[in-house]
Amino acid sequence: MTTSSDLFLTPGSRSHQRCASCGATLPELDASPACPTCGGLLEIVHGAPTLDAASLRASFAQNCCARPLGSASGVWRFESLVMPGAGSSIVSHPEGNTPLLTRAAIDRFAGLDGLRIKHEGHNPTGSFKDRGMTVGVTQAVRLGASAVACASTGNTSAALASYAAQAGIPGLVFVPAGKIAMGKLAQTLGYGARTLMVRGDFDDCLRLVQDAARELGIYLLNSINPWRVEGQKTIVLEMLQQLDWQAPDFIVLPAGNLGNTAAFGKALREAKALGLIDKMPRIVSVQAAGAAPFARAFRENFATRYSVQADTIATAIRIGDPASWDRAVRSIRETDGIVLSCSDDEIIAAKVAIDAAGVGCEPASAASVAGVRRLVQDGVITSSHRVVAVLTGHILKDPGILVDLHQGEQFAGANKPIEIDADVRAVERVLAESAHSEGAR
Ligand code: F0G
Repeated sequence: MTTSSDLFLTPGSRSHQRCASCGATLPELDASPACPTCGGLLEIVHGAPTLDAASLRASFAQNCCARPLGSASGVWRFESLVMPGAGSSIVSHPEGNTPLLTRAAIDRFAGLDGLRIKHEGHNPTGSFKDRGMTVGVTQAVRLGASAVACASTGNTSAALASYAAQAGIPGLVFVPAGKIAMGKLAQTLGYGARTLMVRGDFDDCLRLVQDAARELGIYLLNSINPWRVEGQKTIVLEMLQQLDWQAPDFIVLPAGNLGNTAAFGKALREAKALGLIDKMPRIVSVQAAGAAPFARAFRENFATRYSVQADTIATAIRIGDPASWDRAVRSIRETDGIVLSCSDDEIIAAKVAIDAAGVGCEPASAASVAGVRRLVQDGVITSSHRVVAVLTGHILKDPGILVDLHQGEQFAGANKPIEIDADVRAVERVLAESAHSEGAR
């Protein structure tokens, strides 16, 4: 069993960075993008909180409204488990405080009563990336970074651009040309990041930005940055708080570069070790079938690390060589987790159901609900289970797909706009036709 002493330094110690591969340690204010000794991914280790579980829970509840800076932030409320040394450097919109919803229409689609939906699209730039970016950009401020950079399928770039603008630090983003959704590109440009459209895919962008960070001294803010992971842990911490610290049986999320899978595992490991929860939920990571190297490896007990040429309609998770692989393997192993892949058709069917319920999400997000539906059909999830599915991004991130679905010719459930003359009789005819087609259903 993992105990708090395996995961935390002695109480009151300053946080530091540790290489997950070779164990080398670095001070918390070292800007290296990876372990300088072996190239492995870094993780953050904090001093153990001085409070017991009950007092910690009480402090999180109080932090919701007590602090003047970041007072309403669903990230900085958990500061002692995220970045205890942030002090006055915090760059916050604020972010987090996303709702945990239930909707009968989504339950019917998934085949499960009481499915809880954690909607991260309610963050300020419309995705969960804001939780990692508030912490990552705060670290950039602490370091005095001259510029920050990331590779992105669109949401990370929008979040980086927004937080960098607030901090007054130049932002540089690398996105695959022609492969990111319109809403995300528009945000990134509007918030003012220098935007490089790379002729290649996300995996090429990530290699390029890592070289640029190494050679040009720009601070790297992809989710391989361990502070991003610290921020993203708060999706789980906030969800647990909303559930009164009664851990669910399953937490289901879409997976691409595997930063979130890594963050969820770390959050649960720490929450369990601190006694904030008494059982471990199972993490379910859902990939798109055309970008599913991790799902394939899971089926073979992670004997091989695969990479693929990724292709899926869910552009946010169009990633063939996920960077946080080893961290994510640990998350799945330690939570008795599951990795599966869903086809683009399954993902779009889930998106259409989520949209039509009035909730809405971008395509990649719907992979979580598609995954729940599949596991219900397979009998892995049953009516006795408490399940949370995470929606990672807002419906307006990808307006292009909505136009294709509803104004194109292909989709049987299309909700086509109707052009009319400015005449009340025309409205009457539309209402009569709608009543007729409702009756025919
Ligand atoms: N859902 C959305 C909406 C995303 O934007 C991403 C990742 C994921 C899920 C997958 O999360 O990478 O942690 O496994 N988007 C990144 C980006 C890659 O650049 O915005 P992951």
